[in-house]
Amino acid sequence: MNRGIVPGTFDPVTSGHLDVIVRASGLFDELVIGVAHSENKNGGGPLFSIDERVELIERATAHLSNVSVRPFDTLLVNFAEEVGASVIIKGLRVVTDFEREFQMAALNWRLDSKIETMFIMAIPEYMYLSSSAVREIARHGGAVRGLVPDVVCEALERKVNEAR
Ligand code: PNS
Repeated sequence: MNRGIVPGTFDPVTSGHLDVIVRASGLFDELVIGVAHSENKNGGGPLFSIDERVELIERATAHLSNVSVRPFDTLLVNFAEEVGASVIIKGLRVVTDFEREFQMAALNWRLDSKIETMFIMAIPEYMYLSSSAVREIARHGGAVRGLVPDVVCEALERKVNEAR
């Protein structure tokens, strides 16, 4: 069984993430989406709770029969081992991603050299898309349709209205 893992914070999952997930799901028998709790990322907590982030990805990937979604709050290599995945798949966008991704891949290799990291290049349309940009656009009432799966669009609208 050839199993891969796509890890991330997914706060929230974007159309760019989904594109990488769809393409990776075609390369593996099974693909696990690992949603990191990331409670202290950038000082504040994520906009969406871990349960909300998991549910949004589940709904956005419901059409992909070999994809499952699981939260994790451990080292990524330990979680990969736990779910039986031997390859970590990350999306790579603009060059600024490279340094951070290179560091994480090197450290993960240092922690467990049996687990390989593989990168899938974002398509040009999504090169500059990020969860943080999506959150900011939504917070200021801008249009996020197309930048995120439709289920996320609705969830973002609800979150922004709740905060008002
Ligand atoms: O979506 P993100 O924030 O780029 O994802 C980063 C993530 C969750 C993949 C990374 O922070 C991670 O692997 N966290 C788990 C803890 C861990 O293993 N850290 C060491 C990796 S260098």
